[in-house]
Amino acid sequence: MALSEFVAQLDELVASAQDAFAGAADDDALEAARVEYLGAKSGRLKAVQKGMGGVDKADKPAAGKRLNEVKSEIEAAFQSAKDRASSITDTDASTDFDPTLPGLQPRLGHLHPITQTIEELKDIMGRLGFSVSEGPEIEDDWHNFEALNIPASHPARDPLENFYLATADKTAEKTAKSTGGPLLLRSQTSTVQIRVMENTPPPVRIISLGRVYRPDTADATHYPMFHQIEGLLIDRDVTMADLKSVLRLFAGSYFGGSDVHIRFRPSFFPFTEPSVEVDMSWGDKWIEMGGAGMVDPNVLSAVGYDPDEVSGFAFGLGVERICARRHNVVDIREFYKNDVRFLKQF
Ligand code: FA5
Repeated sequence: MALSEFVAQLDELVASAQDAFAGAADDDALEAARVEYLGAKSGRLKAVQKGMGGVDKADKPAAGKRLNEVKSEIEAAFQSAKDRASSITDTDASTDFDPTLPGLQPRLGHLHPITQTIEELKDIMGRLGFSVSEGPEIEDDWHNFEALNIPASHPARDPLENFYLATADKTAEKTAKSTGGPLLLRSQTSTVQIRVMENTPPPVRIISLGRVYRPDTADATHYPMFHQIEGLLIDRDVTMADLKSVLRLFAGSYFGGSDVHIRFRPSFFPFTEPSVEVDMSWGDKWIEMGGAGMVDPNVLSAVGYDPDEVSGFAFGLGVERICARRHNVVDIREFYKNDVRFLKQF
């Protein structure tokens, strides 16, 4: 046999042995590969070695040298595969990993305090039989003003009191025309009262929670974007006493304890008559939470209800103020600073 043929066999052997050792999945497979290549009696190295006898005499020293090198290379490949396997086993043992022990608590985020409050308010009012309705944040003139008995000349429509959407663009202008007025970011959730009554025959018992927008200067109790909870109950013979009972139950459940009081102060809203401001006290302070009243007959007529047949009450409260009161937050701007040190306390 020519020297080159013998060397080629050795090279092929070393490559295939290295692959076999590196690919052995566990100790048993590694041992099987060792026997296959390095086995003293019938290993493949031994078989190739036997071919030495057929190599020309003059080439024998070179062939022997290469044979020894290949033997060392195969043994080294085996040793390093073995070391690698035992180092993996050692690490496993040293961590004392016990999959049956309870895990560590992952450091997850949580819901924003205002979202938590909204969920809790839904829960409380759900127990009083109120279901949740939603409405769009971009509103038209009819739902934000007209149907709520807010006439064209009313100061509540002032551009300085609202975020009107620009109608410079042709589509917006067309939409404004077809909906009968300019579009705006809704300034109150009372819009949802109208949307629900337009689509539902009485009786009605809903709440609606969501964002509203006003160009108010931000201070400790105001923010240009805030949340309201709107409530609406329409039925036969509804009275102010029903309104007060529902709000008292609501406040008692949210703040907890018997130390919670409700106070009505006479007020005016175009869509309720009579109208009141709702104050709540918990501890020593009265805080204005929102407005309320008996739904004005003009509103009932605007949505196609018969004011002689049905009556109802409505209320709209500020969610930030409710949440701030309960958690003793003195400035509602804290809710929107996105300071994790503040938020993670809830
Ligand atoms: C209204 O928005 C009426 N829609 C409430 C209503 C509903 C009356 C149904 C009658 C029947 P008012 O503008 O007062 O009312 O706002 C209600 C509450 O929203 C306020 O009492 C306050 O708690 C909250 N609020 C008002 N402006 C802001 C603001 N800029 N930032 C945070 N909260 C505010």
